[in-house]
Amino acid sequence: CGIVGYLGKKDALPLVVDGLKYLEYRGYDSAGVAVHTGREIEVVRAVGKINDLEQKLKNPPRGKCAIGHTRWATHGRPSLENCHPLATTDGRIVLVHNGIIENFNVLKNQLLAEGVAFQTETDTEVLVALIGKYYTGNLAEAVLQALREVEGTFAIAVLAQDKPDEIVAAKRAAPLCLGLGKDENFIGSDAISFIKHTNKVIYLKDGEIAVLTAKSVEIRNLRGKKVNPKTQTLSLDPTSIEKGEYPHYMLKEIYEQPHAVQDTLDGRISPQNDEVIFKELEKYREYLSGVNKVFIVACGTSWHAGLVAEYLLERYARLSVEVDYAAEFRYRYPVLDNKTLVLTISQSGETADTIAAIGEAQSLGAKVLSIVNVPSSTIARNSNMVIYTYAGREIGVASTKAFTTQLVVLSLLTVYLGLLRRNLPADQAAVMLQDLKRVPNEISKIFTEVDNIKRIARAFHKHSNALYLGRGVGFPIALEGALKLKEISYIHAEGYSAAEMKHGPIALIDENMPTVVLAFKGRRYEKILGNIMEVKARKGKLIAVASASNDDITRVADEVIRIPDATESISAILAVVPLQILAYYIAVEKGCSVDQPRNLAKSVTVE
Ligand code: G6P
Repeated sequence: CGIVGYLGKKDALPLVVDGLKYLEYRGYDSAGVAVHTGREIEVVRAVGKINDLEQKLKNPPRGKCAIGHTRWATHGRPSLENCHPLATTDGRIVLVHNGIIENFNVLKNQLLAEGVAFQTETDTEVLVALIGKYYTGNLAEAVLQALREVEGTFAIAVLAQDKPDEIVAAKRAAPLCLGLGKDENFIGSDAISFIKHTNKVIYLKDGEIAVLTAKSVEIRNLRGKKVNPKTQTLSLDPTSIEKGEYPHYMLKEIYEQPHAVQDTLDGRISPQNDEVIFKELEKYREYLSGVNKVFIVACGTSWHAGLVAEYLLERYARLSVEVDYAAEFRYRYPVLDNKTLVLTISQSGETADTIAAIGEAQSLGAKVLSIVNVPSSTIARNSNMVIYTYAGREIGVASTKAFTTQLVVLSLLTVYLGLLRRNLPADQAAVMLQDLKRVPNEISKIFTEVDNIKRIARAFHKHSNALYLGRGVGFPIALEGALKLKEISYIHAEGYSAAEMKHGPIALIDENMPTVVLAFKGRRYEKILGNIMEVKARKGKLIAVASASNDDITRVADEVIRIPDATESISAILAVVPLQILAYYIAVEKGCSVDQPRNLAKSVTVE
């Protein structure tokens, strides 16, 4: 979910609605606003996206203080009564919340016994009722008292009917920041929601509570003690988050990949190709030389990048690697110590499970290196070392340019660690680095395939299942290709190691089950051809992503999409691009909501 707030001299509602639009990536099941008109608090809510909310704001409430919310449903369906903002039954306290109140049942039973009535299925209503119970005129005090009883995660913004000039905000394990303007102040789950108005930002820490007026911000910890916050000046360009001439953010972001990869490479390879320059790791060189194991932890697409890295780090840096979903890692009693490097990968830097995994890893003595796209995000701040991908803001829910830039950073890291640990010969490292420098240009060449891919998308969009196969580094790319398709076109797609297909998925293959095969050059190419023949023998339709000079593929595949000739590791980076384009055009053919697919959120800030 995303929350925003505004207090100042201007009409608050348009600012809050505009801010919410930038947070829609955090969820778009329902949305709502609460405006303090000076006398009372008016709440308007809608099921659906911010556009649906705007339809209900034809006679907008006016006031100089407002809060807003865009929801990704956890407790309670995305129905109107479960939309935020939520209020106490007497309407005196109104609140927006991102997170989960874990002990809400216990609290709810206590409040019910005290005679409090509830109207929704949400955990949030329990929190607002609790604040209402303690409120006797000092809002911050009531919020503090309520939060002391709460278990779970939250970022909240609270209004009181008899306090037209005040918002109270607080957080624990969910992001929240304050934007400081001249005679106006903002609240946002992400600074992007107010960056057009101010770039002076305070990131609240866990357990902090802020009292905002138009002219002041006061921050305390949960014990009520005043703290001195650090104000940062962000250099986030607001125009970088516009869609421009593209029909969807996803398409724009696919086309931005050459540029994003170039930005990520810039300054990181020495002119002689003999060194990877990661100044950010300088302090930890000794630690990195001594590690004997790497644990990669991530979610979703970032987890797929981790799987690619497993192949690279083992092969070239000769490091033992384990990859896990962040949510599993956390609860599986992982074996780590101060010779383990925990490597987390995250586009947003805000995924709750990954944040929790970092805490777990550090408590077991490991150092955490994170590859993150969003500067100043929680993961960036909590990690011992951070390497940024410079993909720029990614808005489309289906990750594209963040993934390719993650692969580039992971390739650089492989060479860095290989050289540092003397496991990678210098001449081999030099060739790998030269190859990486060519990636932006090679990705650009793939765009000449777009018409071919569009035609394939038209031919295949009516199928309801698909299989994606790859081997070696192509296996995680197959997983990612399948994920892209299912996320945005709702076609059921499975990614498999091509070799493993014969142990199960082959049973599904017939003329109605198309198979996408990653058949680029590499050590396993001949084997892949064998797997292709197994599919053909069962009348399966085959779409191959193949290197430019693989002539023999046209004899066995029904459709061929070309990528430039490259080494196996570089081919993995290139091959995902046509799979993104294929998923995109299939979703467009099907008329799906490409940038905001149903039930998903770009950044999952709850466990
Ligand atoms: C969500 C998004 C995915 C993303 C995953 C991990 O599920 O929809 O696109 O890969 O979170 O996000 P992160 O920001 O940690 O990379």
